[in-house]
Amino acid sequence: MKVSPLRPSAAGAFAPMSEPLLSARGLTKHFGGLKAVDDVSFDVHPGEILGIAGPNGSGKSTLFNIITKVPFGPTAGEVALDGRSLGGLGAHAIALSGVARTFQRENVFASLSAVDNVLVAVEAHAPKLQFDQQVARAGQILDLVGYPPTMHNMLAGGVPIFYRKQLMIASALALKPRVILMDEPASSLTGPEIDRMRDIVLAIRASGVTVVLIEHVLSLLMEVSDRLIVLDQGRVIASGAPRVVIADAKVVEAYLGVAHG
Ligand SMILES: Nc1ncnc2c1ncn2[C@@H]1O[C@H](COP(=O)(O)OP(=O)(O)OP(=O)(O)O)[C@@H](O)[C@H]1O
Ligand SMILES: [Mg+2]
Repeated sequence: MKVSPLRPSAAGAFAPMSEPLLSARGLTKHFGGLKAVDDVSFDVHPGEILGIAGPNGSGKSTLFNIITKVPFGPTAGEVALDGRSLGGLGAHAIALSGVARTFQRENVFASLSAVDNVLVAVEAHAPKLQFDQQVARAGQILDLVGYPPTMHNMLAGGVPIFYRKQLMIASALALKPRVILMDEPASSLTGPEIDRMRDIVLAIRASGVTVVLIEHVLSLLMEVSDRLIVLDQGRVIASGAPRVVIADAKVVEAYLGVAHG
């Protein structure tokens, strides 16, 4: 697909010099009469953290679903990675081609240890690597997300939610993605844990992985995002510099409209 460059907005939004790494054009998902995602287009540039906000039910998770085809693809629209369409690829191929995701609900193999959880993804990405090197890689990724070495062999099902979220992120990173889509990594976390999650998001970006971050914890989103997109009822209602977007009257109304029923 042809990828058009992002134009800087009058508000002084992020104005990258690079070509987009991930680009979505006209993404749409219908569930019967409901337009969960409705003609959404955006670009993500290499090294960027793109934040996605929006009230409950605005289509954020569905957007990640249709980009990754986990569990379903779009009704219409196109996604390209580095200018190459992902349209013909299934979920598995998309994950191995450089677009990994985490889920709103922490999704781990409960009966496997932490290191075995990550090994499943390392094996999927690098099946020919020797086993001891696969184990070493799993350990490096667990270190990157700050997973305590003393917990590497504990069963994932028994550890607190923060650690299960770390494991889910580590498993996504084990696929060696170029971009990671993170769906509410800070939900259900305490204040200090949210601070640690911020450090993880920044460490992921520093490691060279581009990040798209859905988050209801606005303090985190505002702190780490280079640019922000806000969805409401499946549509992009604002995008640009976070401080400008969050003060946009349409955004305030979308959140207050939900808050006041
Ligand atoms: N598999 C599905 N079948 C039917 N409707 C769905 C399905 N998945 C999502 N929806 C609907 O699509 C809309 C968008 O849902 P989605 O989960 O994408 O919202 P969200 O922005 O992620 O919300 P939240 O902030 O609560 O996580 C909602 O109305 C939801 O009920
Ligand atoms: Mg969601």
